[in-house]
Formats: sequence, C-alpha cells, structure tokens
Amino acid sequence: MNIEQLRADTPAVEQLIHFNNAGAALMPKPVIEVMTRQLQLEAQLGGYEAAAQHLPELENVYGAIGRLINACPDEIAVIENATRAWDMAFYSLPLQAGDVVLTSTTEYAGNYIPYLQLKKRRGIEIRIIPNDEQGQVSLSALKDMLGDDRVALVSLPVIATNGGPVQPIEQIGALARAAGVLFLLDACQGVGQMPIDVQKIGCHMLAATSRKYLRGPRGMGFLYVEKSLCQNLEPAFLDLHAASLLTPETFKIREDARRFENWECNVVAKLGLGAAVDYALAQGLEPMWQRIQHLAAYLRDRLGEVAGIKPTDSGIIKSGIVTFTCQGSSAVQVQQWLAARDKRINVSTSTFRSTMLDMQQRNLLEVSRASLHAYNTEAEIDEMIEALLRMPRS
Ligand SMILES: Cc1ncc(COP(=O)(O)O)c(C=O)c1O
Repeated sequence: MNIEQLRADTPAVEQLIHFNNAGAALMPKPVIEVMTRQLQLEAQLGGYEAAAQHLPELENVYGAIGRLINACPDEIAVIENATRAWDMAFYSLPLQAGDVVLTSTTEYAGNYIPYLQLKKRRGIEIRIIPNDEQGQVSLSALKDMLGDDRVALVSLPVIATNGGPVQPIEQIGALARAAGVLFLLDACQGVGQMPIDVQKIGCHMLAATSRKYLRGPRGMGFLYVEKSLCQNLEPAFLDLHAASLLTPETFKIREDARRFENWECNVVAKLGLGAAVDYALAQGLEPMWQRIQHLAAYLRDRLGEVAGIKPTDSGIIKSGIVTFTCQGSSAVQVQQWLAARDKRINVSTSTFRSTMLDMQQRNLLEVSRASLHAYNTEAEIDEMIEALLRMPRS
C-alpha cells in the first residue's frame, strides 16, 4: 500500500489523529471532489438538472458496489444508512408467530430492537447463539440450533460496533445455507475494512453504510439482496420508484433490488458513495485489511504498556476496532483527554446501550474505542500512547 498517497489524499491527517473510523472515517479527496462538484452543479443548474448530467456516474454506484461485494448491480439498493437498509430487508421477511431468529451476543441494538418489535407484534422468538471459548459465535452451537425447523433467519454483524471478534461469516453462511435458512449479514463495520464477498459468505441479504470504513459521506448506505430472493420479498414500504401504478387499482413492484429504495435521495452523497467505493477498490481490500490488522495489533500491543489499561477485544481474528477500559478514568474522560491534545486525537466511547447482550455478558458498561484505518500510522499510535501515559487518573 502506498501510505504516503493515502495520507496525501486525506488532508485532515495533518491536523488531527483520527481513530474514529468506526464512527465516521475521513473522506479521501476524490470523494470530496465529486461531492463538491455536484453540489455546485445543483446550485447552478437545479437539482434534477444536475443529476441528469451525471446519470452514468449514478448508475456506476451500483456497479461499483457490486464489484466491491461480488454481486450484480441489480442486487443492490442504495439506501440512506445501514439501519434503514437492514430494516428494509428485515421487515420484508414474512416472519410469523413461532418463527425463530438466531443472532449473536454482538448484535447491534438498532437491529435487536426490530427483533423485539416483531416479537411483540407477531410472536417471533429471538435466540442468542452462544460464543465459543474465543468469544466468537460457536459454530457447533449454531449447527445444533439450526436443527430446529422453526428457525427462519440467522442475522448478525460481521464486526460489532464495540469491536470484538470478526465473526466466521463464511462458516456461518455455509451452515445457514445447508439448513435452508436465510442469512442477513450486517456488514456495516466490515465493508471497506476487509474483503466482503457475498458469494463466498453465502449471505442472502447484506446491509452496509457509507461513512465508516468505506470513507464515503454520511447519510448513505446500501442493501444487497440475492437475485433469486428479491422478487419474493415485498418491501414494507413502497413508493412510485419501488413500484409503478398501472391502473387506478393496480401496481407492479419493480423486479430488481431497487424495490427497497425510495425515489428521493441525496444525489450528492450517492455520487460520493460511488467515488468512495471506487477509491477502496483502487487501494485493494486485501492490502487494506492486512494494514488495518497490523496497525490494530500494534496498538493492542502498545496499550499493554499503559498501567491500568485493559484491551477488551476477544476473538480469533480481531478487527481494526480496538477497545479498552482504563482504570481510574471513564471512557468519556479518555475521549476528552485525547481530544484536548495539541494535535487532536479522535477516539470514541461505546456504551452498553449499543451492544447490550455482549457488554452485559462481559460485565462492561462502556469501553474506549480507537478504530484504525489504513491511512493511520504507527507514529500516530505512539502519540496516543504517550498521551495516555500522561493522562491524570483518579
Ligand atoms: C454493527 C453496526 N450495525 C449497524 C450500524 C448502523 O449503521 P448506520 O448508522 O449507518 O445506520 C452501526 C453503526 O454504528 C454498527 O456499528
């Protein structure tokens, strides 16, 4: 990887150390340029007229996402964030009373709440797949649980918002497929960070966001739905883009995954997402993943030098999201201390409200989260360690 080029494409690294890539990463220049150009064009020409000038680029967004995750363009819907993309898939499933959803302890609250809603509304059952000794989903437990023919869905995040293991998604996908059960993958923290190949994973649906490891703009995301499944899923919401009015009494839902979209969207951000995906593909997902894992291992290692700091990530494969607790300081104090350095260091705080099952199981209320990207460096990590060594504690 050409780290110098990556950093040159990311001007803000001159002023700050950004370790909040799991929150929202810094956008590279090509993304900013495309969006600035389109915004100016909207101001000069009008929004519809500006969009009409860039129809091929808008279409390329689907092709680029398809190349990113090894899917066809017509299996992609561009939706305003990962949560809504996930919702559009989940709420289209014909889940009935007694149907079982299997999820992991690392499930994101934004997904878990919809399970609870359908439990209340329709009587579905939620079952949690236990972890193995390494802290990732137990594949043998999953296999046993899939033996119950009431299981209708396996749904979990590849990487949790609060770090932890990279789930063995290819094995999970293979088990779900073998059992004939749908697999909905939340790849929100995975896309852009690691290679994600829906064919290899075997997931039927996948939701992701633009602003995190993909380095696109905020307020954008996408959904993948396997072609053979797509036409059997009726979106919970329809509009005149997702469907066409044929007569005053009849309508037809479109056949491709854009049935999950709605008509109005942020065209500037959509073009930004396309540019971000093109940028990630040009860097190469495999080298990016290697570099992120290398930096994260270096940070975990160096955190060990700071008394009272305890890394909290489990799992055989760990991601670029590094979490830790700090004796004598709350996560918010850590965040504020690092943000107040001459060269600001951005980390964030992950609380039990986002990943309640996991945090409760590990007796954690909150963790500090330093999420690294390929454009970060060892020198930046060293600066953070120096700052932590000087941090006053109670
Ligand atoms: C694992 C996971 N899933 C889903 C989401 C939701 O993504 P978005 O905010 O784009 O809806 C997040 C956001 O932090 C996340 O970490």
